[in-house]
Amino acid sequence: MLIYKYNISDTAETELNEWFDEMSDERRLETKQLISKEKRAAKIAADHLCRKAIAEFCGVTPESIEFTKNKFGKPFAKNLPVHFSISHSNNTVICAVADKEIGIDIEKTRPINPKAAQKFATETELEYIASNQNGFFEIWTLKEAYFKCIGTGLGTDIKSVFFNINPSGIFCSESGFECSFIDIDEDYICSVCQKTT
Ligand SMILES: CC(C)(COP(=O)(O)OP(=O)(O)OC[C@H]1O[C@@H](n2cnc3c(N)ncnc32)[C@H](O)[C@@H]1OP(=O)(O)O)[C@@H](O)C(=O)NCCC(=O)NCCS
Repeated sequence: MLIYKYNISDTAETELNEWFDEMSDERRLETKQLISKEKRAAKIAADHLCRKAIAEFCGVTPESIEFTKNKFGKPFAKNLPVHFSISHSNNTVICAVADKEIGIDIEKTRPINPKAAQKFATETELEYIASNQNGFFEIWTLKEAYFKCIGTGLGTDIKSVFFNINPSGIFCSESGFECSFIDIDEDYICSVCQKTT
C-alpha cells in the first residue's frame, strides 16, 4: 500500500487549469457543477494525485489512465491491476493505492456536537468517543474508509460494522480487513482500510 498526500494551498491557479484539462470529460463536468471554489480545486488535485499514484504503482503514464465507477460511485482504473481510494478534507487531498481493495478517509478535526455520534456509532464506540479526544473522527473515518473499501459508500447501515480501538490495534467487526490510522498532522485524522485477501 502506498499513500500520496497533497496540500491544495500549494497549487497555483495555472497549475489547476492544466490539471483540469487533463481530466476526463465526465470529471470536468462534475467539477464545473461544484459551487465551491475549494471543492473544485480538491476535485482537480485529487484527479492529478491519483493519476500520479496509479502511474507510479503500475508503471504507466498518468495520461493513459482511464477511470470507471461502480454503481455507488467508487472509482476504478480500467484494465490496471490496482485499487485506489481518494479522500479530501479542507486543504488536503489523499490517495491510497494498493494491490487489494482499499478505502481511505481523511477529516480535519473540528468542534462537533457529541450527539452526532449516535447516528453512526454503536454503544461501545460511543464509550470510546466519550473518553478519547479524537474518538469521534477516529471512528467516523474508520467507518468511511471501510465503506469506501467495500465500495458501497455510506448508503449502507453505518452501524452494521464497528471498530474496537485498543493499545494492541484496531479491530474491525468484519473479518478480512486491516485498518490503521495514517499520521498526517495534528489537525487531521486519517484512516485506511484494506482487504487482506
Ligand atoms: C463516497 C462517500 C463515502 C464520500 O464521502 P465524503 O466524505 O463526502 O468525501 P471524501 O472526500 O472522503 O471522498 C470522496 C471520494 O470518494 C470516492 N467515492 C465516491 N463514491 C465511492 C464509493 N461508493 N466507494 C468508494 N469511494 C467512493 C470518490 O473517489 C471521491 O473522490 P472524487 O469526488 O474526487 O472523485 C460518500 O459521498 C457516500 O457514501 N456517498 C453515497 C454513495 C451512494 O450511495 N451513491 C448512490 C449511487 S449514486
